[in-house]
Parts: sequence; structure tokens; C-alpha cells
Amino acid sequence: MHSVSTLGYMVLGVSDLAAWEGFAVNVLGLQAGKRVAGESLGLRMDDYEQRILLLKSDIDDFLAAGWEFETDAQLDAYIAQIRARGVEVAEADQAVADQRRVTRLFVCEDADGIRHEFYSTAYRANTRDAFRSSVLRGGFSTGRFGAGHFVTVPKHSASAKAFCEDILGLKLSDSIGGDAAPGMTIDVTFFHARAGRHHSLAIAEVPFPVSKRIHHMMIECSDANDVGLAYDRCKASGVPILMELGHHPNDGMFSFYLISPSGFAIEFGSGGIVVDDDTWEVKRYTELSDWGHKLNPPPGAPAPKAH
Ligand SMILES: [Fe+2]
Repeated sequence: MHSVSTLGYMVLGVSDLAAWEGFAVNVLGLQAGKRVAGESLGLRMDDYEQRILLLKSDIDDFLAAGWEFETDAQLDAYIAQIRARGVEVAEADQAVADQRRVTRLFVCEDADGIRHEFYSTAYRANTRDAFRSSVLRGGFSTGRFGAGHFVTVPKHSASAKAFCEDILGLKLSDSIGGDAAPGMTIDVTFFHARAGRHHSLAIAEVPFPVSKRIHHMMIECSDANDVGLAYDRCKASGVPILMELGHHPNDGMFSFYLISPSGFAIEFGSGGIVVDDDTWEVKRYTELSDWGHKLNPPPGAPAPKAH
């Protein structure tokens, strides 16, 4: 079966482009890239022209995942395969491909309204225009492992998992059923793409209503000190922290979760593992974190009463 190689980019619909730019550049350490005033802003993490695309939209949610293939032949074989399975896939027009900074693009939509976009060649920045972060000590962990990961909260988790495995060709990494807070049990199923980042997409099942398509998206840096430095920048600039510093037992990620200007969370981490399919064993975990990741009350919630 043909399958996607890696999650090359993510597209977000954001209502406040200016707020997002300041947050992305000064807090997350991304670099502003191609801009269309009042419409869109590309964000860089490496030598790609863009890894995250912000589109002006009142939706304030995750819009699209850009799945990469290594060659045009792989892309074409994959598109033929999912069409044969009955998936409605359209070739995007050149303007959309250009906005994503890729040469050729195919698009389908899942049951929760997330677009899945497929391409093989992304534009790279000019060699004289190397990635520069104004705040990171190191860089972002991208390359063939892609831009990061995202965790959806689908309406029907069984069909969303089937989409991951049967359409995207992702493989099960592992799953966790554990408490995010006392009495709040969350079940998360993690899937990896061919390149092997522990997960590019995970499906969360939560016991409370959610207003966004994703629980969070993750970006990873190469120097663990940058996680602590980003945490300090959030504290200094008043960016709300959803979950404190901690460590996940399955992907080995040291991270914290901050709340973006669009209301969904971003996991900022370092140290995630890579899966080798030849030796990998799928496990079931019973805790989301082996230490930390303490859930904070939502911003604006009344402070707990002292007894
Ligand atoms: Fe995550």
C-alpha cells in the first residue's frame, strides 16, 4: 500500500494575523516568510519556504495538513490508489499550490472538515536566505520527519482512525488511556507516517465537548533548553499555559502546552523519538505523562478557593 511520507506543513485559519505573527516570531521562534497583506502569512522553521501557513479566517482552527511524498511517481501512485478506494480527490489549481509553496497539489477532506493535501515538491528558500530564529538557541527538528504533529478530536473516532490507516496509510504507534486531571480520562491513539516521527497525527477521545478540530499541534526544537526558554517567554509575555512542563512516556517528548491566539493549544517540545517499523512494538500506556504536564485551569477561571 502506498502511504504518505511525512507531515510537511500545516495550515491554520486565524482571525488575528498581526497577533499571530508577534506570537509566532517572538514566542515560538518561527521566522516570518511570504506575506500577502491582510490575507496570509507563511512561517518558516527550516530551509522550506514555509512550514506553517496562516490564512486570515474567523474560524480560528486547523484547516489543512500537507502530506509529503518523496517523488512525483509516489504521489501519483498514491492518488490513484485512494481514488480507487472511493476518496474524492481534486487537483488544486495553481494559485492554491502556489500559496502552499508546492509545485503540484491534490486535496481531499475528511469527515471533520480537515483538508488533507498531498504534494511531492515544496519550494526551498534561497541558499543565501538560511532560516533564522530571533529567539531560539538551536533550530527546529524537521527535515524528513516533517513540520511536527497534530492531534484531532473527531466526532467519530473509529472512522477517523480508519481514515488514518486505510487512506493516509499511517501506522499505529501506540495508544494511551490516562487521566489528564483527576476524573478526566482521555484516550489517545498515535499514528506515524513512513519517515518515522513517533506520530504525525493522533486521535484524541475526550469526555467533554470541544470547540476546535484539534486539541493541539506540536513543533519540536533540537535543543531542550529552547523548551525552557520558550516557557519563560510565555510567562514573561502573558501567553497562557495549558499544561506545564512534562514528559510523555510513549514518544519521549519533553514539552509544555501553550494556548495560541486562536484558542487551540501548541505543544512545544524536544526529544521525540523516531519509530523503526522493523523493530517497533505497539504498546498500550496507562498514563499520558510520566511526570509533569499538570493541567492548569482555563484562563479567566476563578482561582481555587483557599481552605
Ligand atoms: Fe502532542
